[in-house]
Amino acid sequence: MLNIAVFVSGRGSNLRAIHTAIEDGRLQASITLVVTSRDRAGAAEWAEAEGIPVLSVHHVQPSEVAKVLLEALGQHQANFIALAGFLKLIPSEVVAAFRNRILNVHPALLPAFGGTGMYGHHVHEAVIASGAKVSGATVHLVDEEYDRGPIVAQRCVPVQDDDTADDLAARVLEIEHSIFPEALELFAQNRIFVRDRRVFVIK
Ligand code: GRF
Repeated sequence: MLNIAVFVSGRGSNLRAIHTAIEDGRLQASITLVVTSRDRAGAAEWAEAEGIPVLSVHHVQPSEVAKVLLEALGQHQANFIALAGFLKLIPSEVVAAFRNRILNVHPALLPAFGGTGMYGHHVHEAVIASGAKVSGATVHLVDEEYDRGPIVAQRCVPVQDDDTADDLAARVLEIEHSIFPEALELFAQNRIFVRDRRVFVIK
């Protein structure tokens, strides 16, 4: 059973997609904590209304964030972390404590279009400017290297000639909502192992 802490910074559509997958029985897990980097994020308000405990790290001193997070994760018995649009860096102490137990969803096909500054509309603008004919979503494990952790799942969408960044973002977001819960379910079923920075799915 996964006890997931979902980390958010914005509107939280991936948080809601994970919640829906749990309600529908597609994901054997529960969301025990929502961590937000912003006080008034739509995602945090939604979680509070659902009765899910919410921790805001917005006003926490940078040097204190790791300690505050590890305490809250322990208190809420979280054994897994899902980064769903979380814009802050995860402290290395937390990465070490949750080794191979942190997933992030990225709105492009990594290792392209990732790294510093590649978030939100910047990603989709870069994809369109590159002339690439496909984009997609990537779910990957989080390690100390930004957007470079082992890839768990990817799915493609076409890039249309007349796409705006918003058009492409909407097409990618739709598939994020399916591959993120699916990837989490592979962990819930204990079907994942990692070797030499590659992820293998046990059939
Ligand atoms: C998603 O596009 C995700 O790939 C990225 O941030 C966005 C979060 O959207 N990391 P939402 O808050 O889940 O709606």
